[in-house]
Amino acid sequence: MAKTQKTPPPPESTGPTAQPAKETGGPTKLWGGRFQKKTHPAVERLTESLSFDRRLYHHDIEGSIAHAEMLARIGILSDEEKTKIEEGLRAIGREIREGTFRFHIEQEDIHTAIELGLTEKIGEVAKKLHTGRSRNDQIALDLRLWMRDEIIYIEELVGRLQEEILEHAEQTVEVPMAATSHLQHAQPIPLAHYLLAYMEMLERDSERLLGCYSRVNELPLGAGAGAGTSIPVDREFTARLLGFDTLSHNSLDAVSNRDFCMEFLTTLSILMTHLSRLAEEWTWWAAPEFNFIDIDEAFCTGSSILPQKKNPDPLELIRAKTGRVFGDLTQMLTVMKGLPMSYNRDLQEDKEAVFDAADTIGFALEALVPLVANTTFNTDRITEIARHDPIDSTSLAEYLVMKSVPFRDAHHYVGRLVTQCLDQGKSLSELTLDEFQEVCPRIEDDVYDALGLENCLKRYHGVGSANPEQVRVELGRWRTLFEE
Ligand code: ARG
Repeated sequence: MAKTQKTPPPPESTGPTAQPAKETGGPTKLWGGRFQKKTHPAVERLTESLSFDRRLYHHDIEGSIAHAEMLARIGILSDEEKTKIEEGLRAIGREIREGTFRFHIEQEDIHTAIELGLTEKIGEVAKKLHTGRSRNDQIALDLRLWMRDEIIYIEELVGRLQEEILEHAEQTVEVPMAATSHLQHAQPIPLAHYLLAYMEMLERDSERLLGCYSRVNELPLGAGAGAGTSIPVDREFTARLLGFDTLSHNSLDAVSNRDFCMEFLTTLSILMTHLSRLAEEWTWWAAPEFNFIDIDEAFCTGSSILPQKKNPDPLELIRAKTGRVFGDLTQMLTVMKGLPMSYNRDLQEDKEAVFDAADTIGFALEALVPLVANTTFNTDRITEIARHDPIDSTSLAEYLVMKSVPFRDAHHYVGRLVTQCLDQGKSLSELTLDEFQEVCPRIEDDVYDALGLENCLKRYHGVGSANPEQVRVELGRWRTLFEE
C-alpha cells in the first residue's frame, strides 16, 4: 500500500470558543432560512462538533474539490466557477494549516466553517458547491477519507514493530527459555519462538486493518441527506477522483451506517490488546525478580522521591491506554445500538471515539517501536532460570510413548520421577539409568537424548513447533515477507 503522510491537526489557537467573525458575508447557519430566533448558547455548545471535527478540514476540502470537479463535469459549474471554488478551498486549507483561519462556535461544524469561509472569500459562486450534497453524506465521506489515511499509517507502524521484533528473533534462536502456562514453567522453547508468536498476532492485526480498509473504501457521496438527489451526479467520476473502489449501493445505509467505525475500533481494540500483553509481560521481565530484559533509559522514567528508580512507564501506559480504546469501541457500539434509520445527530458522536482510538494507538506504537529496538535480552539469565525446573519431563513422557508406553501411563511414571528429582534437588538428566528403570523398565540408555533443554528443542516435530530448525524456517519466511 502507498505510503501517505498523516494530516497534521489544525493549530489550536483559534478554537471554536473564539469570538465570531464580525462579517461572515451571509447567515452563520447553513440552515438559517426557516429560523427566526438565534440558537440558544447552551444548544450551540451541546450541538457543535467544530471543536473536534476540524481535524477533518483537509479531508473535507479534498472531498469538496472532487465534488466541484464532478459538478463542473455535469454542467452545474462552469470551468471558471470550478476553478474559483477550488482555489478558494485550497486557500482556506492553507489558512487553517497556518492558524489564520477564524473559527467560531456558531459555525457548528467543519463543513459549515469551510463553506462560510469560502463564501466570504469568493462570494456568491461558493453557494453552488453544496449542490446535490448534504452534510450527512459529506461527513460520511470525510470520515472515510480520514480513516483510510489512519489505517495506512497504523498498518505501517505495525510493520515497523514487526521488523524490530524480527531483528531480535533472528538473534535468539539459540537461546533456550521456559515457555510458561499459568505462569509456571512448561516446556523449553527458543526465545525466538516466543518473539515470533507476536509476529503472528501483529500480522493478523495488519490483515484486519487492510480488510477494514477495503470496507472503508466506498464512496457515500451522492446519497445526499439519505434518499439520493435529483441532480444527475456522476458518482463513478467522484469515486475515481478520490480513489474509492466502490460506490455505496443504498443511500440510507450510506449516510447512517458506521460499521466501518465499529470495525476500525474493534480492529484497534484487538491490536491494542496485543500491545498490552507484550507491555504487561515486559514490565515483569524488567523487574529484578525476572531481570530478563534491560530497557534503554530513553524509554523509562524516574521517580520524584526514589533516586534509584528506572521505571518502565511507557509499557504501563500502553497497558492502561488499552482501556481507553475499549472505551471508544463501547461508545461507538452504544451510539449505534437502537439507532433508527437513517441519519441521526447521534452519529456526530462517532468522531471523538475514532479519533481518540487512532491517536492512542499511534502514540503507543510510535513509542513501542523504538522501545523494542532499544531493549536487550539478558539471555544467560533467561536460559539459567529455565534450567531450574524439570521442564524436560514432557519430552521424557513422549520418549516413553515412542517405547510403546501408553501416554497416560508415561505421564504417571514421569510424574513419579519428577517428584524424586524435586526431593533430591536433581534434574531429570542427573538420574542414573537404574533409578529410571526402577520406576519404568522400558527406559533405556538413549533416554538422555530426550533430556536437557537443548535436546528437548531438537525433538519437537513439524511446522509451527519450537524446534530451532523450524523456527529458522519461520524466520526465513518472515524475512522474505519483509524484504518484499
Ligand atoms: N456534524 C454532523 C456530524 O458529524 C454532520 C452534520 C449533519 N447535520 C444534520 N443536521 N444533518 O454527523
